[in-house]
Amino acid sequence: MSNHFQDILVHAENGVMTITINRVDKKNSITSVMYAALADAIESAHHDPAVRAVVIQGHESVFSAGNDIADFLNKPPSTPDSPVFRFLRGISSFPKPLVAAVCGPAVGIGTTMLLHCDLVYAGDNAAFSMPFVNLGLCPEAASSFLVPQLMGYPRAAEALLLGEPFTAETALEIGLINRIVPPLEANVLAQKQALKLAAKPFTSLLETKRLMKKNNVGIVAERMAEEGASFGRMLQEPAAREAFTAFMEKRKPDFSKI
Ligand code: COA
Repeated sequence: MSNHFQDILVHAENGVMTITINRVDKKNSITSVMYAALADAIESAHHDPAVRAVVIQGHESVFSAGNDIADFLNKPPSTPDSPVFRFLRGISSFPKPLVAAVCGPAVGIGTTMLLHCDLVYAGDNAAFSMPFVNLGLCPEAASSFLVPQLMGYPRAAEALLLGEPFTAETALEIGLINRIVPPLEANVLAQKQALKLAAKPFTSLLETKRLMKKNNVGIVAERMAEEGASFGRMLQEPAAREAFTAFMEKRKPDFSKI
């Protein structure tokens, strides 16, 4: 059984806040309680002058299986203030450097949250996927804008329409990640890079990140809100209900009548 209080670990030291997704028995899938903890941590990092960089990491065997499916069925995010949307707004508008370490499966938001990180280090076992369509849903985290922008439309269509997984090598080639390392080294490298960032002139870091992100800021916020409204509605519809029920019943979904 997962202990809610341990599912998200937050530790701040030497200017770096490290947020660990720590629910390995459920493949680090994220419940609304966990999203709230993630959103709170990001908000506190935003406002705490002692925090100059943030690391988001999982376990060497799994980064995150995405939304906790049962929790999503029971407590669908229905308003813009829902924890998942709060978390996404928090990372997409986070002004300080955000570093991620990703090993094993990174499903759904496990991949899309990386679009908002500045540096991403992946284990060679990382497997990225955005199977929103397969789940009767649509993209979130502004991925419908950022994924085609990053990898070009044809590859984005494979990733988002077919929901096909891709490897760390592909992620490196398309520019989603910075480097591939042995899984046990990913968290260590992310920490090392975050410490390097934390030692740099802070105002220069903030201004450089702001300038690099400037062209996307408005469209990302707008797209995220539009996706969120569709995602929330689609969660209640038959295709998502069938996909989620099938996952829990450990069978293939049947969309033939939907
Ligand atoms: N929500 C809730 N529980 C999840 C979960 C999720 N997204 N992903 C995994 N789990 C649970 C499984 O139900 C299982 O629980 P159990 O031990 O009580 O049966 C446990 O985590 C282990 O998962 P399992 O599927 O056996 O692990 P695996 O190594 O064979 O596969 C994944 C790992 C990530 C590939 C696979 O679990 C998966 O595809 N998960 C769903 C991903 C998904 O669709 N996410 C939603 C995105 S919106």
